[in-house]
Amino acid sequence: MNNHDYIIRRETPADYRAVENLVRESFWNVYRPGCLEHFVLKCLRGNGAFVPELDFVMEKDGRIIGQNVFVKAEIRCDSGASFPILTMGPFCIAPEWKRQGYGKRLLDYSLGKAAEYGAKAVCFEGNIDFYGKSGFVAASSLGVRYHGLPEGADDSFFLGRELVPGALDSVRGEYATPACYFAAEAEPDAFERYERTFPPKEKRVLPGQIFEK
Ligand SMILES: CC(C)(COP(=O)(O)OP(=O)(O)OC[C@H]1O[C@@H](n2cnc3c(N)ncnc32)[C@H](O)[C@@H]1OP(=O)(O)O)[C@@H](O)C(=O)NCCC(=O)NCCS
Repeated sequence: MNNHDYIIRRETPADYRAVENLVRESFWNVYRPGCLEHFVLKCLRGNGAFVPELDFVMEKDGRIIGQNVFVKAEIRCDSGASFPILTMGPFCIAPEWKRQGYGKRLLDYSLGKAAEYGAKAVCFEGNIDFYGKSGFVAASSLGVRYHGLPEGADDSFFLGRELVPGALDSVRGEYATPACYFAAEAEPDAFERYERTFPPKEKRVLPGQIFEK
């Protein structure tokens, strides 16, 4: 993408450490004291479900200020079939560039590329106030339930978007976040060793966090 004050391009191995640092800075203390997403991204890249063709960074003035990635996932249909979709993230914009429209531009670009890649739909957990502006709706309205939620529980965090209009018309079923997203919980020692390779940062309990640790 040109004609802007930024470019969006595929991530390369030379970017990995800067991107993981960006993810750590962007997610730090947002959803929990500290964050796990930088480790998750590092682990995702080596997972078979990761889609390298849809691994994007946003660069401005020679610095990476945003990133987004996609992972293969599925809807387990009530019929017993599996419907292939994508899930998304970590996705972030550097704290100093937030709320200036860069996130929406990176999101819309990467969703366009996901459609070109051949994906039919994307489901993941997010805030409708942001993602609703890029066509996401409550996944329940598309017939997709979130694995493990009790009947009647608030599922408004679970979002979906068809990349092919009508793709989910005849699909009803359940989505579970792929296991590769729980890398930090699965390997806490590896996570702690990895975290110690970054400069120390203060973990804080803040309003709006979803997890206690
Ligand atoms: C979420 C994130 C990627 C959004 O990027 P951004 O560049 O700040 O978003 P944009 O400026 O493009 O936002 C477009 C519009 O979405 C809405 N929006 C953006 N962030 C929002 C938020 N946190 N809450 C509510 N609405 C939000 C706003 O209406 C905004 O327009 P406005 O600033 O004119 O009101 C960025 O805030 C971020 O990196 N957050 C930390 C990591 C994270 O939470 N990632 C997403 C995990 S699901």
